[in-house]
Amino acid sequence: MQHKTILITGSNGQLGMEFRKLSQNSNHRFIFTDRKTLDFSNLVTINDFFDSKSIDIIINCAAYTAVDKAESEQEQASLINSEAVALLGKIAANRQIFLIHFSTDYVFDGKGFTPYLIDHPTHPVNFYGESKRAGEEAMQETLKLNGLILRTSWVYSEFGNNFVKTMIRLGKERDQLHVINDQVGSPTYAYDLAKFVLTNLVSFTWEGTRVYHYSNEGVCSWYDFAHAIMELKNISCTIQPIPSSQYPTPAQRPSYSVLDKSRIKEDFQVSIPHWRDSLKVCLDKL
Ligand SMILES: NC(=O)c1ccc[n+]([C@@H]2O[C@H](COP(=O)([O-])OP(=O)(O)OC[C@H]3O[C@@H](n4cnc5c(N)ncnc54)[C@H](OP(=O)(O)O)[C@@H]3O)[C@@H](O)[C@H]2O)c1
Repeated sequence: MQHKTILITGSNGQLGMEFRKLSQNSNHRFIFTDRKTLDFSNLVTINDFFDSKSIDIIINCAAYTAVDKAESEQEQASLINSEAVALLGKIAANRQIFLIHFSTDYVFDGKGFTPYLIDHPTHPVNFYGESKRAGEEAMQETLKLNGLILRTSWVYSEFGNNFVKTMIRLGKERDQLHVINDQVGSPTYAYDLAKFVLTNLVSFTWEGTRVYHYSNEGVCSWYDFAHAIMELKNISCTIQPIPSSQYPTPAQRPSYSVLDKSRIKEDFQVSIPHWRDSLKVCLDKL
């Protein structure tokens, strides 16, 4: 396989860190940037950065991911999740760079009852989802070759802050926790997603910008997820199910956000691990 120069943006995040780790066993050449070395809120510096580098593939892990805060920081969320992505799309188009970008189950409104197909109409119920949808649209408009949008959901990892680590911490501190049981989705272990990308996608080339869905197999509620974390980690904290109405947040969340993965499984002939198996792998590392 031809070796590529791969830029990983947002490389201190959950997904970015998994790429960092996996890069140690890869023959590709990697460049890692973070908020200090490539700031997505400063569009001028993004252009300058690419003038001084020769890059084959961008894997964009940088994002504004604070779902609740995005409601009150809309400008900042738009800048990072939409305007910077539009610019990356233009740069990738001008320089024939393959751009791999991540989006979210939160582009859907969650009113469905069957897994969302990749071409199901989007209709975000919060501003984070809105800003990510705008990023998808900008990329699809500008990048007519070698663009990839991977929508994923409920991401966790041994790195960064996430639901799994919060549950472990709270579970050790308290006897009982209340967790929402009327939001249903599929957790995604960032390691599985990063490994899938590096194994399958960096040698591809195609027309236009494609959208695929990737999450772990299986479906659960946040309550089921928390329950599994306590069980697998042997933490004796009781998890009590509650409806979302008892846990109000600034941003509304979709109640059903399961992504249909049939297209990615068919096109790349991959088998995706079940969320419970991957959770166990992650918990063993924590
Ligand atoms: N987390 C989820 O549950 C979830 C669900 C669906 C989709 N996704 C998508 O999956 C992708 C990866 O998410 P993740 O969970 O790895 O997110 P994450 O852990 O929050 O990482 C995002 C990274 O982006 C960086 N970043 C933020 N603002 C920046 C800026 N102005 N300039 C440069 N970098 C900046 C952050 O830097 P700092 O470390 O300095 O903050 C962080 O390292 C994102 O596109 C996200 O929208 C995530």
